[in-house]
Amino acid sequence: MKFFVDTADTNDIKELAETGLLDGVTTNPSLVHKAGRNFLEVVAEICSIVPGPVSAEVVATEHAAMMREAEVLRKIADNITIKVPLTIDGLKTCKALTGEGTMVNVTLCFTANQALLAAKAGATFISPFVGRHDDIGFDGMQIISEIRLIYDNYGFDTQILVASVRHPVHVLEAAKIGADVMTAPPSVIRQLFKHPLTDRGLEAFLSDWQKTGQTIG
Ligand code: E4P
Repeated sequence: MKFFVDTADTNDIKELAETGLLDGVTTNPSLVHKAGRNFLEVVAEICSIVPGPVSAEVVATEHAAMMREAEVLRKIADNITIKVPLTIDGLKTCKALTGEGTMVNVTLCFTANQALLAAKAGATFISPFVGRHDDIGFDGMQIISEIRLIYDNYGFDTQILVASVRHPVHVLEAAKIGADVMTAPPSVIRQLFKHPLTDRGLEAFLSDWQKTGQTIG
């Protein structure tokens, strides 16, 4: 499963990129607002840090205007992925852009039927939001299983990008289902490294090593 980070904070992106774990980045207008930086500048910087797909979202809601925004965004770098909402105009834009060889991430997906539409429109990635489903008392991961089944039934090559990930169990479930990608905030990716027994074990090893009085090298 590929790991994308869901942020527009370039300090976090740089730090996580050094682990070699990052396969891509997703941003959205709310994350750009949180970063407090110029959208085009921050996206260009992210594209220079991570060679994998970097999602940048259009904010127009009508097809022709979405295409105009996508035109500006895709000039930024070769690894730009245009993010469009799951609307009729968004999917028209998806079809047009993927037809021209541009990667497209269809966002704000909440049902398996919506994911089927995105695949038929040629989406490179579909982003079902699991956490926002959980927030309203529905098991968001159910949708991921349904989408996996449907895409496998018909051989769609649209990649399932599990989004709105809130904790490590979402990551585990996504991997068990066979999602292609997950995108998580930096805090969740850092949580994946942590286990109290790892910390306790390391502490004991280091303390015993000190008692040997030896050094390496
Ligand atoms: C995905 O591309 C979205 O940016 C993101 O995962 C939304 O997450 P949220 O529901 O935590 O805002």
